[in-house]
Amino acid sequence: MARYPESNVFHRPLGRDMPVIDRGAGALLWDQAGRRYIDGSGGAVVVNIGHGRGEVAAAMAEQAGRAAYVHGTHFTSEAIESYARRLAAYTPGDCNRLYLVSGGSEANETAVKMARAFHLANKQPSRFKTVRRSISYHGNTLTTLALSGRPNLQAPYKPMLPHVAETMAPFCYHCPLGKSYPSCEVACVDELEATILREGPETVSAFIAEPILGASAGAGVPPEDYARRAREICTKHGVLYIDDEVMCGFGRTGRWFGIEWSGVQPDLVTCGKGMTGGYMPVGAVLASERIVDTLLKGGGFVHGFTFSHNAVTAAAAARTLDILEQENLVERARVAGETLLARLQSLLAHPHVGDVRGRGLMLGVELVADKATRKPFPRAEKKAEAVFARAFEHGLVTYPGGGCADGVNGDSFMISPPFVITDAESAELVAILDRSLTELGL
Ligand SMILES: Cc1ncc(COP(=O)(O)O)c(C=O)c1O
Repeated sequence: MARYPESNVFHRPLGRDMPVIDRGAGALLWDQAGRRYIDGSGGAVVVNIGHGRGEVAAAMAEQAGRAAYVHGTHFTSEAIESYARRLAAYTPGDCNRLYLVSGGSEANETAVKMARAFHLANKQPSRFKTVRRSISYHGNTLTTLALSGRPNLQAPYKPMLPHVAETMAPFCYHCPLGKSYPSCEVACVDELEATILREGPETVSAFIAEPILGASAGAGVPPEDYARRAREICTKHGVLYIDDEVMCGFGRTGRWFGIEWSGVQPDLVTCGKGMTGGYMPVGAVLASERIVDTLLKGGGFVHGFTFSHNAVTAAAAARTLDILEQENLVERARVAGETLLARLQSLLAHPHVGDVRGRGLMLGVELVADKATRKPFPRAEKKAEAVFARAFEHGLVTYPGGGCADGVNGDSFMISPPFVITDAESAELVAILDRSLTELGL
């Protein structure tokens, strides 16, 4: 165990004992004390291809040994050129121009700047605003935190955050309109148009949305019509559609990209996490032809980071892509997800498990104080964190989140194991959750 102040590391949870990881294989992890864990959330919904893939490490070592670093304004590499070419076969619509960065927040920050640069090149300099949804997460830099519908995370930094326009989230379990699908006719999407009109369409640059609401809502799946109608509204008002696939992308929902379920073509796609399965820090923007052509004619895109377009990252991503293809893992995520979702449904027998939801292996469980009214526990009770801690003691890693009910209250946790999880591990995962919930009286 390591802990501040004995440890010199500024750990994320300050003042907690941190087990030290030893190794991982498939969906399993072992710490230095020899304890075994099922990685039931793939960390933060990252580890798609599974732990311990020596072939990814070898591909990275090969590239690092050959040419580890060149600046993105000086050279390109065969690693990134061939990867971008191959990836184009899977990207939504014609979003097949890869801008590689080092994390999902960097990707979203890049995307909103790219959208703004597009409007400038298109002679529409008044467009600069982005519309976010009321329950969402797009990152933790100041701009991407502002883009996130996470009042509890924003609160301490509020004076530092730029203004971002907000529309309601299509979150059916806590419908902001008190309606239910399909009789609601997806009325929540009308609010997007109202928001754009209220802000002034000539000032709005982009709309940002995840295909499935990620950790901020414990895998809430919107009705497919939502994305289709949102796309129409954006097109009508000249607003770019940024599809945040940082969590949903690379097979997590049982398709290569989450937006495929609705058949919508975005203008910009952002990625991260599963793109390298956790083997390298990664993020990317996939831009459509129209965006890149316009930027080229307008004089280019002045942006970038020291580690943009990194060849070792591209090598890790390419080997991850090989594995997803060769082992048919996207289909496996869909099938294993159906089985796991069915198993998780048994947890609904617990008095405070209000909902179990998701798609593919992007699944979530929500705890409520009252099932009939769906009333959340007060956030201060930290029920999701309590389940995390108890399950961790029993050898299961989950990914808790707070705020799904109203932005502040609401307890959910993600269940999103590596796609290679075995059937026995999937059953064991649910058994540990069952036991943990029982012990906590939830
Ligand atoms: C949907 C979504 N977008 C963006 C991010 C930010 O990515 P990162 O933590 O790599 O900066 C996350 C991280 O959880 C995410 O889930």
